[in-house]
Amino acid sequence: MEVIIQPDPGSGSVLAAQIISNLLKRKPNAVLGLATGNTPLRLYKELIDMYKRGEIDFSRVTTFNLDEYVGLPCDHPASYNYFMYENFFKHVNIPKNQIHIPDGAVEDIPAFCLAYEQAIKDAGGIDLQLLGIGRDGHIGFNEPVSSLSSRTRIKTLMEQTLKDNETFFEREDHIPHHVITMGIGTVMESGSILLLAFGTGKAHSIAQTVEGPLTAMVPASILQLHPHAKIILDKDAATHLSRAAYYQTTYDGKPDWQKF
Ligand code: F6R
Repeated sequence: MEVIIQPDPGSGSVLAAQIISNLLKRKPNAVLGLATGNTPLRLYKELIDMYKRGEIDFSRVTTFNLDEYVGLPCDHPASYNYFMYENFFKHVNIPKNQIHIPDGAVEDIPAFCLAYEQAIKDAGGIDLQLLGIGRDGHIGFNEPVSSLSSRTRIKTLMEQTLKDNETFFEREDHIPHHVITMGIGTVMESGSILLLAFGTGKAHSIAQTVEGPLTAMVPASILQLHPHAKIILDKDAATHLSRAAYYQTTYDGKPDWQKF
Protein backbone atom coordinates (compact mmCIF):
# COMPACT_ATOMS: atom_id res chain seq x y z
CA MET A 1 0.00 0.00 0.00
CA GLU A 2 1.42 3.38 -0.95
CA VAL A 3 0.13 6.33 1.08
CA ILE A 4 0.51 9.71 -0.62
CA ILE A 5 -0.32 12.82 1.40
CA GLN A 6 -1.01 15.95 -0.62
CA PRO A 7 -1.54 19.46 0.80
CA ASP A 8 -5.21 19.68 -0.27
CA PRO A 9 -7.96 17.91 -2.26
CA GLY A 10 -7.09 19.95 -5.37
CA SER A 11 -3.49 18.70 -5.57
CA GLY A 12 -4.61 15.16 -4.65
CA SER A 13 -7.09 15.20 -7.54
CA VAL A 14 -4.49 16.56 -10.01
CA LEU A 15 -2.12 13.76 -9.01
CA ALA A 16 -4.88 11.15 -9.47
CA ALA A 17 -5.64 12.58 -12.93
CA GLN A 18 -1.94 12.33 -13.86
CA ILE A 19 -1.86 8.69 -12.75
CA ILE A 20 -4.90 7.90 -14.93
CA SER A 21 -3.48 9.89 -17.85
CA ASN A 22 -0.18 7.99 -17.60
CA LEU A 23 -2.04 4.68 -17.60
CA LEU A 24 -3.91 5.70 -20.78
CA LYS A 25 -0.62 6.67 -22.44
CA ARG A 26 0.76 3.20 -21.70
CA LYS A 27 -2.52 1.45 -22.45
CA PRO A 28 -5.01 3.51 -24.51
CA ASN A 29 -7.65 0.74 -24.27
CA ALA A 30 -7.45 0.49 -20.47
CA VAL A 31 -10.44 -0.61 -18.43
CA LEU A 32 -11.26 1.85 -15.65
CA GLY A 33 -13.38 1.13 -12.59
CA LEU A 34 -15.09 4.36 -11.54
CA ALA A 35 -16.66 5.75 -8.37
CA THR A 36 -19.27 8.42 -7.64
CA GLY A 37 -19.75 10.68 -4.60
CA ASN A 38 -18.18 14.01 -3.65
CA THR A 39 -14.60 12.82 -3.53
CA PRO A 40 -13.88 12.17 -7.24
CA LEU A 41 -15.66 15.30 -8.54
CA ARG A 42 -12.45 17.37 -8.82
CA LEU A 43 -10.65 14.45 -10.44
CA TYR A 44 -13.38 14.19 -13.08
CA LYS A 45 -13.13 17.96 -13.70
CA GLU A 46 -9.38 17.64 -14.10
CA LEU A 47 -9.73 14.73 -16.57
CA ILE A 48 -12.32 16.71 -18.57
CA ASP A 49 -9.90 19.68 -18.73
CA MET A 50 -7.07 17.41 -19.87
CA TYR A 51 -9.36 15.97 -22.55
CA LYS A 52 -10.34 19.47 -23.73
CA ARG A 53 -6.67 20.45 -23.93
CA GLY A 54 -6.06 17.37 -26.12
CA GLU A 55 -3.83 15.73 -23.51
CA ILE A 56 -5.90 12.61 -23.01
CA ASP A 57 -8.04 10.40 -25.25
CA PHE A 58 -10.79 8.15 -23.91
CA SER A 59 -12.00 6.74 -27.24
CA ARG A 60 -10.69 3.24 -26.53
CA VAL A 61 -11.36 3.22 -22.79
CA THR A 62 -13.95 0.92 -21.21
CA THR A 63 -15.48 1.79 -17.83
CA PHE A 64 -17.31 -0.06 -15.07
CA ASN A 65 -18.92 1.86 -12.24
CA LEU A 66 -18.94 0.48 -8.74
CA ASP A 67 -22.54 0.87 -7.71
CA GLU A 68 -26.08 2.15 -8.13
CA TYR A 69 -29.22 2.57 -6.00
CA VAL A 70 -31.85 -0.13 -6.42
CA GLY A 71 -35.16 1.19 -7.72
CA LEU A 72 -33.86 4.38 -9.34
CA PRO A 73 -34.19 4.67 -13.10
CA CYS A 74 -31.02 5.74 -14.95
CA ASP A 75 -32.39 9.25 -15.59
CA HIS A 76 -33.25 9.96 -11.93
CA PRO A 77 -31.16 13.00 -10.88
CA ALA A 78 -29.90 11.18 -7.75
CA SER A 79 -28.96 8.01 -9.63
CA TYR A 80 -25.29 7.24 -10.16
CA ASN A 81 -26.00 6.83 -13.87
CA TYR A 82 -27.15 10.45 -13.99
CA PHE A 83 -24.21 11.56 -11.80
CA MET A 84 -21.67 9.93 -14.11
CA TYR A 85 -23.11 11.39 -17.31
CA GLU A 86 -23.47 14.88 -15.81
CA ASN A 87 -20.07 14.99 -14.14
CA PHE A 88 -17.94 13.06 -16.57
CA PHE A 89 -19.22 11.00 -19.49
CA LYS A 90 -21.06 13.74 -21.40
CA HIS A 91 -17.87 15.85 -21.43
CA VAL A 92 -15.42 13.24 -22.79
CA ASN A 93 -15.21 10.83 -25.73
CA ILE A 94 -15.90 7.40 -24.24
CA PRO A 95 -18.25 5.60 -26.67
CA LYS A 96 -21.53 4.83 -24.92
CA ASN A 97 -21.26 1.08 -25.57
CA GLN A 98 -17.98 1.04 -23.61
CA ILE A 99 -19.62 2.54 -20.48
CA HIS A 100 -21.05 0.16 -17.86
CA ILE A 101 -23.00 1.26 -14.78
CA PRO A 102 -25.16 -1.06 -12.68
CA ASP A 103 -28.84 -0.65 -13.58
CA GLY A 104 -30.85 -0.05 -10.41
CA ALA A 105 -34.17 -0.50 -12.21
CA VAL A 106 -33.47 -4.01 -13.44
CA GLU A 107 -36.00 -6.71 -12.50
CA ASP A 108 -33.75 -9.73 -12.06
CA ILE A 109 -30.97 -8.38 -9.84
CA PRO A 110 -29.02 -11.65 -9.34
CA ALA A 111 -28.94 -12.29 -13.12
CA PHE A 112 -27.86 -8.70 -13.73
CA CYS A 113 -25.03 -9.00 -11.17
CA LEU A 114 -23.73 -12.21 -12.78
CA ALA A 115 -23.81 -10.53 -16.20
CA TYR A 116 -21.94 -7.50 -14.79
CA GLU A 117 -19.17 -9.74 -13.44
CA GLN A 118 -19.01 -11.51 -16.80
CA ALA A 119 -18.81 -8.20 -18.68
CA ILE A 120 -15.79 -7.19 -16.54
CA LYS A 121 -14.10 -10.50 -17.35
CA ASP A 122 -14.96 -10.18 -21.07
CA ALA A 123 -13.35 -6.72 -21.09
CA GLY A 124 -10.13 -8.30 -19.81
CA GLY A 125 -10.53 -7.19 -16.17
CA ILE A 126 -10.21 -3.75 -14.60
CA ASP A 127 -6.77 -2.12 -14.96
CA LEU A 128 -7.34 0.66 -12.45
CA GLN A 129 -10.14 0.87 -9.91
CA LEU A 130 -10.91 4.30 -8.50
CA LEU A 131 -12.34 4.24 -4.96
CA GLY A 132 -13.65 6.63 -2.35
CA ILE A 133 -14.17 5.48 1.23
CA GLY A 134 -17.09 5.76 3.62
CA ARG A 135 -16.76 7.01 7.21
CA ASP A 136 -17.41 3.39 8.22
CA GLY A 137 -14.64 2.12 5.95
CA HIS A 138 -16.86 0.92 3.10
CA ILE A 139 -15.55 0.68 -0.46
CA GLY A 140 -18.10 0.52 -3.23
CA PHE A 141 -21.16 -0.02 -1.07
CA ASN A 142 -19.63 -2.94 0.76
CA GLU A 143 -20.58 -2.02 4.30
CA PRO A 144 -18.82 -3.41 7.42
CA VAL A 145 -18.92 -7.21 7.72
CA SER A 146 -19.39 -7.61 3.96
CA SER A 147 -17.60 -10.75 2.86
CA LEU A 148 -14.06 -9.82 1.91
CA SER A 149 -14.41 -12.10 -1.13
CA SER A 150 -17.87 -10.89 -2.20
CA ARG A 151 -18.92 -10.37 -5.82
CA THR A 152 -21.36 -7.90 -7.41
CA ARG A 153 -24.68 -8.19 -5.56
CA ILE A 154 -27.44 -6.32 -3.73
CA LYS A 155 -26.55 -4.76 -0.34
CA THR A 156 -28.37 -2.81 2.36
CA LEU A 157 -26.88 0.56 3.32
CA MET A 158 -26.07 1.45 6.94
CA GLU A 159 -27.61 4.43 8.73
CA GLN A 160 -24.40 6.52 8.55
CA THR A 161 -24.07 5.98 4.77
CA LEU A 162 -27.74 6.88 4.22
CA LYS A 163 -27.19 10.14 6.16
CA ASP A 164 -23.96 10.96 4.30
CA ASN A 165 -25.58 10.44 0.88
CA GLU A 166 -28.93 12.06 1.61
CA THR A 167 -27.66 15.41 0.27
CA PHE A 168 -27.87 14.07 -3.30
CA PHE A 169 -31.65 13.61 -2.91
CA GLU A 170 -34.42 16.19 -3.04
CA ARG A 171 -36.36 16.49 0.22
CA GLU A 172 -39.44 14.74 -1.16
CA ASP A 173 -37.37 11.79 -2.43
CA HIS A 174 -36.49 8.94 -0.14
CA ILE A 175 -32.99 7.61 -0.40
CA PRO A 176 -33.14 3.90 -1.36
CA HIS A 177 -31.80 1.57 1.33
CA HIS A 178 -30.62 -0.97 -1.21
CA VAL A 179 -27.85 -0.80 -3.78
CA ILE A 180 -26.16 -2.97 -6.36
CA THR A 181 -22.42 -2.90 -5.73
CA MET A 182 -19.34 -4.59 -7.08
CA GLY A 183 -18.06 -6.96 -4.42
CA ILE A 184 -14.83 -6.67 -2.48
CA GLY A 185 -13.51 -9.72 -4.34
CA THR A 186 -14.39 -7.99 -7.61
CA VAL A 187 -12.51 -4.84 -6.59
CA MET A 188 -9.50 -6.83 -5.39
CA GLU A 189 -9.07 -8.42 -8.83
CA SER A 190 -8.31 -5.01 -10.40
CA GLY A 191 -4.74 -4.57 -11.60
CA SER A 192 -4.32 -1.44 -9.49
CA ILE A 193 -6.33 0.58 -6.98
CA LEU A 194 -6.48 4.34 -6.53
CA LEU A 195 -8.32 5.32 -3.36
CA LEU A 196 -8.94 9.01 -2.70
CA ALA A 197 -9.97 10.43 0.68
CA PHE A 198 -10.21 14.10 1.64
CA GLY A 199 -11.26 15.86 4.84
CA THR A 200 -11.23 15.10 8.56
CA GLY A 201 -14.44 13.07 8.21
CA LYS A 202 -12.37 10.33 6.57
CA ALA A 203 -9.38 10.44 8.96
CA HIS A 204 -10.61 7.68 11.26
CA SER A 205 -11.54 5.17 8.53
CA ILE A 206 -8.25 5.91 6.72
CA ALA A 207 -6.20 5.20 9.87
CA GLN A 208 -8.10 1.92 10.33
CA THR A 209 -7.65 1.03 6.65
CA VAL A 210 -3.93 1.76 6.46
CA GLU A 211 -2.64 0.98 9.95
CA GLY A 212 -5.39 -1.10 11.59
CA PRO A 213 -5.88 -4.85 11.44
CA LEU A 214 -7.35 -6.46 8.34
CA THR A 215 -11.00 -6.97 9.22
CA ALA A 216 -14.42 -7.17 7.56
CA MET A 217 -15.46 -4.49 10.08
CA VAL A 218 -13.38 -2.08 7.95
CA PRO A 219 -13.88 -3.35 4.39
CA ALA A 220 -11.19 -1.04 2.95
CA SER A 221 -8.55 -2.73 5.15
CA ILE A 222 -8.53 -5.57 2.57
CA LEU A 223 -6.49 -3.20 0.40
CA GLN A 224 -3.50 -4.08 2.62
CA LEU A 225 -3.43 -7.31 0.60
CA HIS A 226 -3.49 -5.61 -2.81
CA PRO A 227 -0.03 -5.43 -4.46
CA HIS A 228 -0.70 -2.11 -6.26
CA ALA A 229 -2.89 0.11 -4.07
CA LYS A 230 -2.26 3.86 -3.88
CA ILE A 231 -4.08 5.86 -1.19
CA ILE A 232 -4.14 9.59 -2.00
CA LEU A 233 -5.05 11.80 0.95
CA ASP A 234 -5.14 15.46 1.79
CA LYS A 235 -3.55 16.59 5.08
CA ASP A 236 -6.91 16.44 6.91
CA ALA A 237 -7.64 12.82 5.98
CA ALA A 238 -4.12 11.89 7.13
CA THR A 239 -4.42 13.37 10.65
CA HIS A 240 -4.87 10.03 12.49
CA LEU A 241 -2.01 8.21 10.73
CA SER A 242 0.82 7.40 13.16
CA ARG A 243 3.39 7.01 10.35
CA ALA A 244 2.37 10.06 8.27
CA ALA A 245 5.90 11.53 8.32
CA TYR A 246 7.34 8.28 6.98
CA TYR A 247 4.81 8.10 4.11
CA GLN A 248 5.56 11.73 3.24
CA THR A 249 9.36 11.28 3.24
CA THR A 250 9.07 8.12 1.15
CA TYR A 251 6.92 9.79 -1.49
CA ASP A 252 8.99 13.02 -1.55
CA GLY A 253 12.13 10.95 -2.12
CA LYS A 254 10.80 9.27 -5.24
CA PRO A 255 11.99 10.29 -8.70
CA ASP A 256 9.21 11.76 -10.90
CA TRP A 257 8.82 8.65 -13.04
CA GLN A 258 7.88 6.64 -9.93
CA LYS A 259 5.38 9.20 -8.63
CA PHE A 260 2.68 8.58 -11.22
C1 F6R B 1 -19.43 5.64 -4.67
C2 F6R B 1 -18.94 4.66 -3.70
C3 F6R B 1 -18.77 4.99 -2.26
C4 F6R B 1 -18.16 6.37 -2.02
C5 F6R B 1 -18.07 6.66 -0.52
C6 F6R B 1 -17.52 8.03 -0.25
O1 F6R B 1 -19.51 5.08 -5.97
O2 F6R B 1 -18.69 3.55 -4.08
O3 F6R B 1 -17.97 4.01 -1.65
O4 F6R B 1 -16.89 6.41 -2.61
O5 F6R B 1 -19.34 6.53 0.05
O6 F6R B 1 -18.41 8.99 -0.71
P1 F6R B 1 -17.99 10.54 -0.79
O7 F6R B 1 -16.95 10.63 -1.82
O8 F6R B 1 -19.26 11.24 -1.20
O9 F6R B 1 -17.52 10.90 0.56
